[in-house]
Amino acid sequence: MRLGVLSSGGDSPGMNAAIRGVVRQADALGIEVYGIRRGYQGLVDRDWRLLRSRDCANILQRGGTILHTARCQAWMEPEVRAQGAAALKAEGIEGLVVIGGDGSFRGADRLATEHGIRCGGIPGTIDNDLPGTELTLGFDTALNTAVEAIDRIRDTASSHERLFLVEVMGRHSGMLAVHTAIACGAEAVLYPEAADDTYEALVTQLRANWERGKKSSIVVVAEGDQAGGAVAVSDRLRRDHQLDLRVAILGHIQRGGSPSAQDRIWGSRWGCETVKRLAAGEQAFFLGCHQGQLVQRPLSTVNDPPLAPPSGFGEMVRVLSR
Ligand code: F6P
Repeated sequence: MRLGVLSSGGDSPGMNAAIRGVVRQADALGIEVYGIRRGYQGLVDRDWRLLRSRDCANILQRGGTILHTARCQAWMEPEVRAQGAAALKAEGIEGLVVIGGDGSFRGADRLATEHGIRCGGIPGTIDNDLPGTELTLGFDTALNTAVEAIDRIRDTASSHERLFLVEVMGRHSGMLAVHTAIACGAEAVLYPEAADDTYEALVTQLRANWERGKKSSIVVVAEGDQAGGAVAVSDRLRRDHQLDLRVAILGHIQRGGSPSAQDRIWGSRWGCETVKRLAAGEQAFFLGCHQGQLVQRPLSTVNDPPLAPPSGFGEMVRVLSR
């Protein structure tokens, strides 16, 4: 049997652990694995090569993805998917492991349903917003990176008695923002799924803290929040309240770096298990985590509403900042 593996969409720490898991589990079962470069683009371009166990030496602890990644807009076109499927069939690649987020899984679901290619997904995105799994590769690492950065900002914020707005990633998701806010004791958090994700609600919260005698504050802002992101919110605060505040945008720092133990372990587990299930004939599925256990879901689950931040986290940030 011959399988392909690709990483697609935004890279996330733990993807290399998953690639290593796929290649070495396949090796143990006598299955060949082709590493496809740059996600679906590499599939269309037949940009692949045989990966052996030794090709995965010393990648477990490395961030990013050795296969490179891309957001392939062309994959939305049915003709392009047909071209990719034909390329896989011509090479004798019967199954495909796709490591990525929601867009990557949608692409895999279409490849499976339209062309009968066996597809198994491994959740890889720092956003942790996929329906059907409590965890995605990279979230834990990105969260710890953000918390470490904000701990440093906290030192200078309290020394200067300043307000800082810190923007974390999450174009459509507040998962990273709310978890970061709890973990670093932020005074407020703005994120897209919050009912009160408004400038006015933020000002009320900040004012309450100022009245309690707080001299410095950290506000965590999700990239995709409804108030317009950290820069827009800071402009308004400066104008309305004449504050000497500062903005820090953590950006892609959160996407890089050595994966946490948790991301390495889940990458390895999902990598091994995806190969076993593809070899057993499973089709159009992805693996996830539910109540701490490894679970299998249909790829079509990706069309359900995205995973939202736990209810009550926004309120907890407010209570804990008293
Ligand atoms: O999907 C993961 C993510 O990191 C989002 O949180 C962020 O909005 C986006 O990718 C950034 O993408 P790019 O790498 O294209 O700037």
